[in-house]
Amino acid sequence: MMDERTAGAGLHAGLRFEAMQEAHLPQVLAIEEEVHAHPWTLGNFRDSLASGYPAWVLRTADTEQAPLAGYFLLMEALDEVHLLNVSLRRALHGSGLGRLMIDEAVRRMRARNMVSMLLEVRPSNERALHVYRRYGFAEIGRRKGYYPAAGHLREDAVVMRLPL
Ligand SMILES: CC(C)(COP(=O)(O)OP(=O)(O)OC[C@H]1O[C@@H](n2cnc3c(N)ncnc32)[C@H](O)[C@@H]1OP(=O)(O)O)[C@@H](O)C(=O)NCCC(=O)NCCS
Repeated sequence: MMDERTAGAGLHAGLRFEAMQEAHLPQVLAIEEEVHAHPWTLGNFRDSLASGYPAWVLRTADTEQAPLAGYFLLMEALDEVHLLNVSLRRALHGSGLGRLMIDEAVRRMRARNMVSMLLEVRPSNERALHVYRRYGFAEIGRRKGYYPAAGHLREDAVVMRLPL
């Protein structure tokens, strides 16, 4: 039987996904605070786990002691799934591991017969926009003033969709 932790198709040696658990949260939060100007809180992550949202962490070496590389969280709504958060440790940006995490999310959600993946992204997050477009996500709309921004301002969200 395939081990749930190593079931990812085409994983590079030494990379593996594990279901996110409470014990991962200190490292998850450290990455979140490192890479986001307006990070999720510990409570946001705890609520997501308590709600049963599919959430995974990526390790870059095959040992429990290896630091986490990144994580992603999803929320299923009927046959659509929302990619709520995908984040990678800053030192690994540009490594292609972001794409690998999206691959894993897509693979898992296809297996659950989801028909599309939706996400919101800041228009100022040019790297993430590039990664999503290159992956095949298309812009389907904007949400006005969706995100908090510096100086008590708000930033729109670009809404993107990928058919699964
Ligand atoms: C978004 C994220 C997951 C992408 O992962 P990654 O491993 O860095 O991405 P990749 O290495 O696969 O791809 C980076 C691509 O962006 C491009 N890029 C980098 N900086 C860019 C910029 N400022 N503007 C446009 N494109 C940019 C690179 O050239 C590369 O393009 P290519 O694949 O066509 O060569 C990661 O950067 C991250 O965790 N960022 C912080 C958290 C975040 O913003 N999450 C998404 C919103 S919730």
